[in-house]
Amino acid sequence: MDTLTITRPDDWHLHLRNGAALDNTVSDAARNFARAMVMPNLAPPLVNTDQASNYREQILAARPQGSAWQPLMTLYLTDNTTAQDVDAAVDSSIIYGIKYYPAGATTNSASGVTDIKKTYKVLEHMQTLGMPLQIHGEVTDPNIDIFDREAVFIDRLLTPLAKRFPELKIILEHVTTQEAVTFVIESSPSIAATITPQHLLFNRNHLLVGGIRPHLYCLPVLKRDIHQQALIKAATSGNTKFFLGTDSAPHSQTNKESACGCAGCYSHHAAIELYAEAFDQADALNMLEGFASHFGADYYGLPRNTETITLSQKAWQTPNICQLGGEVLTPLHAGQQLRWQVIEEEQ
Ligand code: DOR
Ligand code: ZN
Repeated sequence: MDTLTITRPDDWHLHLRNGAALDNTVSDAARNFARAMVMPNLAPPLVNTDQASNYREQILAARPQGSAWQPLMTLYLTDNTTAQDVDAAVDSSIIYGIKYYPAGATTNSASGVTDIKKTYKVLEHMQTLGMPLQIHGEVTDPNIDIFDREAVFIDRLLTPLAKRFPELKIILEHVTTQEAVTFVIESSPSIAATITPQHLLFNRNHLLVGGIRPHLYCLPVLKRDIHQQALIKAATSGNTKFFLGTDSAPHSQTNKESACGCAGCYSHHAAIELYAEAFDQADALNMLEGFASHFGADYYGLPRNTETITLSQKAWQTPNICQLGGEVLTPLHAGQQLRWQVIEEEQ
């Protein structure tokens, strides 16, 4: 097989940032994808519909001329989010989910939820109205080892939460472990998960053996090989609960290559090509379209895209750096070969 034509994909988990970064992040995101679920962890975070609507306008203003790409907005859940905030989000028709960050779990999560019980009323209301909850699934307990934080979150928090709100649509974002895969497979159809390209292509050896590689550092952190294998199996299985969410998260090179480097991998310089690499390595390219272009839209109750993109088996080298506003960043798999490349389709 030399070419692969698939329905134009969507990214169900993306960080675009704001200000000068938007010109770069939006044009990258819009190149091959049709839609993106835009994360609300700006500083300060987007906690209400007015803020999300204003941000959406900035994003649309940065969209390349003629592009039909669409940002799907999210709100940031806090201890103070109200049922009225959820009503306003539903009424707006521009908000597609509410993101739950445990306070302190990751980048710009300081205003996140300090105790899940404080949000029960709001979650009840979201369940009634069908508003999805997108979860960063890691405990922040300092006594829990960083490699165990997702599995402990599932045990302590997510399992009881899913029992308490059986109809709530819950997306466990950027899953990284065998435990998460098993949890999602065994739970009701209301629970799904996104998977990033870095967690499919790499494990913690890539991050730590032979020197520390800050551009592979993200949260949840890369796990050991058996977990990577479980994710590859889930993504390529055709199970509709697993779909594409890059978690592409730009940080400047200076902020990553530092004594205390930021968490986040940038992947929209080559997002669909990175997934194609992972699926090709697993000999499962025929499963890419469902994962990248169908299952997420179906889960969110949105129409599938009708356009297509075509990938060609043509080795190319990814860039060493990308622009980010006035700064530069080192993208995922920078300066390395990829086997598949998106080509212009004949009209
Ligand atoms: O690695 C990450 N970076 N994980 C997150 O959860 C947030 C993201 C960011 O915003 O940089
Ligand atoms: Zn994220």
